[in-house]
Amino acid sequence: MTETTTRQADQIAPAFVAAADEVVARYPVSIRSASLPLLHLWQNEFGFVDDSGIEWISARLGLVPINILELVTFYPWFRREAAGRTIIRVCRTLSCAMAGSHEVKEKFCEAVGLDPHAGHHGFGCAPPTSPDGKFSVEFVECLASCGSAPVALVNDDLIENIRPDAVAALVEKLK
Ligand code: FES
Repeated sequence: MTETTTRQADQIAPAFVAAADEVVARYPVSIRSASLPLLHLWQNEFGFVDDSGIEWISARLGLVPINILELVTFYPWFRREAAGRTIIRVCRTLSCAMAGSHEVKEKFCEAVGLDPHAGHHGFGCAPPTSPDGKFSVEFVECLASCGSAPVALVNDDLIENIRPDAVAALVEKLK
């Protein structure tokens, strides 16, 4: 067990257990259906899903760890490593790409101190994170707002019609 794993496992508070119980109670017929909601709960609480999260959730649902690990590695939303406090997800699918989302992402990277041409991370890895740990920037697929392209999700807020020359001021506000 890694140091990080131990840290997360030690931080499971009674309130978190109660919230997890509430989630599980919503799936009386198929308890396994609580897997994704519990993963969201865990990642929202701890920032990422480490080994202890996989073990805790699988034990809570009477599954084996691989049942949870395969979800974490399949869905890009979940991370096995810490990311920045503010995560900027720029859409790169067709409408946004044609409206300039690649330039928008480059501007976000430059504004937070990241190399805009750094290699892409793999599933489960943290997205590239600024040296101060405040921002992560990554590409994602369609955010279902194609009519207002280019768009980005900044934590839970959708930002629409982003002009590349407006990105620096946007990041300043986020700081
Ligand atoms: S293509 Fe970007 S929101 Fe759909």
